[in-house]
Amino acid sequence: MSTTIGILGSGQLGRMLAIAAAQLGLATHVYAPDADGSPAGQVATTRTTASYDDVGALRRFANSVDAVTSEFENVPAATMEVIGAICMASPGAAALQAAQHRIAEKTLATGLGIPTPRFWQVRNLDDLSLAMEALGGEAILKTCRMGYDGKGQIRLSPGDDLAAALASIDSDDTILEELIGFDGEISALLARDAEGAICHFPTAQNRHRNGILARSVAPAPVIPAVAEAAQTAATALAEAVNLVGLLAVEFFIATDGRLLFNEMAPRPHNSFHWTIEGSATSQFTQLARVLAGLGFGDTTAYGRWQMDNLLGQDMDRVPELLAQAGTHLHLYGKPEARQDRKMGHVTSRLGD
Ligand SMILES: Nc1ncnc2c1ncn2[C@@H]1O[C@H](COP(=O)(O)OP(=O)(O)OP(=O)(O)O)[C@@H](O)[C@H]1O
Ligand SMILES: [Mg+2]
Repeated sequence: MSTTIGILGSGQLGRMLAIAAAQLGLATHVYAPDADGSPAGQVATTRTTASYDDVGALRRFANSVDAVTSEFENVPAATMEVIGAICMASPGAAALQAAQHRIAEKTLATGLGIPTPRFWQVRNLDDLSLAMEALGGEAILKTCRMGYDGKGQIRLSPGDDLAAALASIDSDDTILEELIGFDGEISALLARDAEGAICHFPTAQNRHRNGILARSVAPAPVIPAVAEAAQTAATALAEAVNLVGLLAVEFFIATDGRLLFNEMAPRPHNSFHWTIEGSATSQFTQLARVLAGLGFGDTTAYGRWQMDNLLGQDMDRVPELLAQAGTHLHLYGKPEARQDRKMGHVTSRLGD
């Protein structure tokens, strides 16, 4: 009987995981409120369209698969609890809990001796005024939960109207971070199996536009000590939360040379899509291997790679990209090309 991987979530990460699983002869079952016709649902073996709090549907789903993973870190803890009582659940409760809240993940990092930007918990205007005063410089105010692609963030300078900023964010669970001047951003990615063995990918260097990842170049063109420090920090974080699956960690390389933790995601990460062509084992294949108990695959990079995201407004480039030699085009099957929506990506080899 073939192994079936359960995937919570219906987006492009679930889609690329399902494709990688299929290549290994594994079946997939996508569970999401909008599974039918979704990017992941289109390519999965089986779909369940149900809400994340439908306990009966969750139990049937968990009983129909061998292991479950989530393509997004904001899956409710209760959902994973129901599933985890029935089958192997990745990435694990502690990993989700930490990654779901910006203060929780930065507190975890700090406790492990991993430097982060200075940060303050902000629940109201008083907290914000005190934090801005203590910081005395440029800042970013972010919602602690549910942020992605730079959403739920606002930059602040001393003297700005703090009440207006807080009102625009519309949350009483926020974090104020010092604005880091950086030379670059990098991300690390590792896989960890149920026995605690770890396998790293080469790090990636990332460039954002309007808070959205625009381009990753890998292996990151940084000195080995920096890449190693990022991987060491990722290892410490993965072990601290007893992670099973993938852990991606984003860092700033500050202008003063310090490597600072930004955030972590216990799932496949946009900055490692280049591994589909750039490595014998992509991030999606590695996750499928961990979930199916197949052991780690080789993660060496075949040369240097560049990955560019295609947002809704970039879709007019598709005909040109289709005609371009050496370009690997991935489209996610999303019907509506909205502004800033991730519609696909392109990967190309830069050289040896
Ligand atoms: N404290 C900071 N100092 C300087 N730049 C920052 C800071 N926080 C965020 N940024 C910039 O904004 C980008 C997005 O921020 P962050 O990673 O916190 O948000 P996100 O919405 O969770 O993003 P994503 O889901 O795309 O990773 C960062 O990669 C970085 O370029
Ligand atoms: Mg980020």
